Amino acid sequence: MPVLRKTTTKQVDKTRPLAVVVLAAGEGKRMRSSTAKVLHEIAGKSLVSHVLSAVGGLKPERVIAVVGHQSEAVSSEIQGRATCVIQAEQLGTGHAVAQARGPMRGFAGDVVVVCGDVPLIRTATLRRLVQAHRRRDAVATVLSMIVDEPDGYGRIITGDGGQVSIVEHADASSSQRRLDEVNTGTYCFDARFLFAALAKLGRDNALGEYYLTDLMELASHDRRAARLVLDDCAEGLGVNSRAELAQAEALMQERLIARCMNNGVTFVDPATVYLSASTRIGRDSVIGPNVRIEGETLIGQRCRLDGSAYLKDTVVGSDVHIRWGVVASEARVGRGVQLGPYAHLRPQAVLGQEVHIGNYVEVKKSRIGRGSKANHLSYIGDAEIGRDVNIGAGTITCNYDGVDKHRTIIGDRVQIGSDTQLVAPVTLGDDCYVAAGSTVSSDVDAGALVFNDKRQLSREGWVEGFRRRKKKPGGSTTESSKKSVKRKR
Ligand code: UD1
Ligand code: CA
Repeated sequence: MPVLRKTTTKQVDKTRPLAVVVLAAGEGKRMRSSTAKVLHEIAGKSLVSHVLSAVGGLKPERVIAVVGHQSEAVSSEIQGRATCVIQAEQLGTGHAVAQARGPMRGFAGDVVVVCGDVPLIRTATLRRLVQAHRRRDAVATVLSMIVDEPDGYGRIITGDGGQVSIVEHADASSSQRRLDEVNTGTYCFDARFLFAALAKLGRDNALGEYYLTDLMELASHDRRAARLVLDDCAEGLGVNSRAELAQAEALMQERLIARCMNNGVTFVDPATVYLSASTRIGRDSVIGPNVRIEGETLIGQRCRLDGSAYLKDTVVGSDVHIRWGVVASEARVGRGVQLGPYAHLRPQAVLGQEVHIGNYVEVKKSRIGRGSKANHLSYIGDAEIGRDVNIGAGTITCNYDGVDKHRTIIGDRVQIGSDTQLVAPVTLGDDCYVAAGSTVSSDVDAGALVFNDKRQLSREGWVEGFRRRKKKPGGSTTESSKKSVKRKR
C-alpha cells in the first residue's frame, strides 16, 4: 500500500492544524457547457458541494475555494462553506493553489488540496490521506489509484529511493502512458513546503500551465514525498466530460441505494431507482421500480411505493402506501395514508393520518384532516378539510376568480356528493351533507343538507322518434312528434 520512504513512521499528531484548498476555477471545456463544470449535478447536488461535504467531515480550521470561471455563480454555491479566492486567469492547478496564499497566511500545519470535480471522494479517505502523510513525516503526499483506463489522468512514477513524481497525460511518453497508477488530484502538503515550492514552479510543459503535480518531484528531492493508493477507484473519478458525469451519477446512485439497503430498505429493481443525496428512507420500506426521489425527501418506516412515483421535497410518514403513478412535490403525508394510483400532490398539500387520495385527484395548498377521503377525479386547492370527510367523485374547489385565490373550509364528517363545485370563498359546517351535482357558493350551516333546485325533465318516447328521423336523410322534420314532457319533482 502506501509509500516509499525508509523513514521510521511516527505517531500521528492529531493536534496539528489542518486546512483544505478546493480547486474550482476551471471552465471544464470538455463538458461543452455554458454552466461551470463544478456546478453540474449528481444526485441533485453540485459536484463541488459533494466535495465540500466530504471536506467538512475533516473539520478543518480553514477551507479555501479557488474560483474563477463563473466565479459569482460558483461562489454563491459555496457560500458559507469556504472562503473564496479568485483565480482571474486559469493558468493551471499549481497557479490555482497559489491564489490561496493570502487567506493561508500565518497557517502552520497541513493542507489538503482537492479538486472540485471529484464528487465521490469520502471523508474517511481524506482522513487516511492526512494520517498517512503525518505518519510518513512527508511534505507532499498524493492520493493515487489504479485504473483500467488511465487516459487523461497524470501517471504516478515511483523510484527506488522513495521518489514519487507525476507526469501529465499530455507530457507522457508512450511507455509512461501504459502505467495504470494515476493521480486522483488529491494531496496533503505541509503548508510551508507548499507555498515555498509553488513559487518555484515553471510552465514548460505540453499545456503551458503551472502544474501542481510538479510539487511531488520537488518533495522527492528532499525524500519527503509519499503516496497513498485508493482501494475504491470510484472515489477518485474526475468528472471532465458528460460521459464521466453519467458514470459518476451511476456510481453515486449505487452508493446511495446501498446505504438505504444497509439500513433495511428493499429495492425491487434498484437499477431503475434514482435518489437524491439527502433522501432518507425508513426501515422495512419497499421501493418498487421506476421511482425518482429528489430534494429533501424523507420516507418513514414500512412504506410501500409500488412504482413509477416521483417525489420531491416531500415528507412521508410511516406505513404509507403509494400506488402506481403518484407525483408529489413539497407535500407532507401523514402516517398510514393511501395515495394513488395517479394522484398529484402539489406544494403545501398536507395530509393527516389515514387520509386516502385516489385516482386522478390533485391537491394543492390544502390541509386534509385525519381519515378523510377523496378517491376519484377531484381538484382540491386552497382548502382546509376536517376529519372523516368524504369528498365524492368529481368534486372541484373553484378557488380562482381570475385574479385572486380563495379558500374553501370544510368541517368534520362532511359528506360531499359527486360532481360538486365548491365556489370559494365558502365554508361548510361540521356534519353537513352536500347533494350530488350541487354548486355550493354560499356558506352551509353545520348539520344541514344543501342541494340545488334543478328540475329533472324527460320526454317519453323521444328516442324512437329521433332514430326514425336519423334514418331518413332529408326526411321531414315538420312531422310533428308528439311532445310529451314529463316533469319530476
Ligand atoms: C488534474 C491533474 C492530473 C490528475 C487529475 C485527476 C494537474 C496538472 N493534473 O488533471 O494529474 O490525474 O486532475 O482528476 O493538476 N482548476 C483551477 N484552476 C486552473 C486549472 C484547474 O481551479 O487553472 C481546477 C478545476 O476547476 C478542477 C481541478 O482544478 O476542479 C482540476 O483541473 P482539471 O483541468 O480538471 O485537471 P485534469 O486535467 O483533470
Ligand atoms: Ca479533472
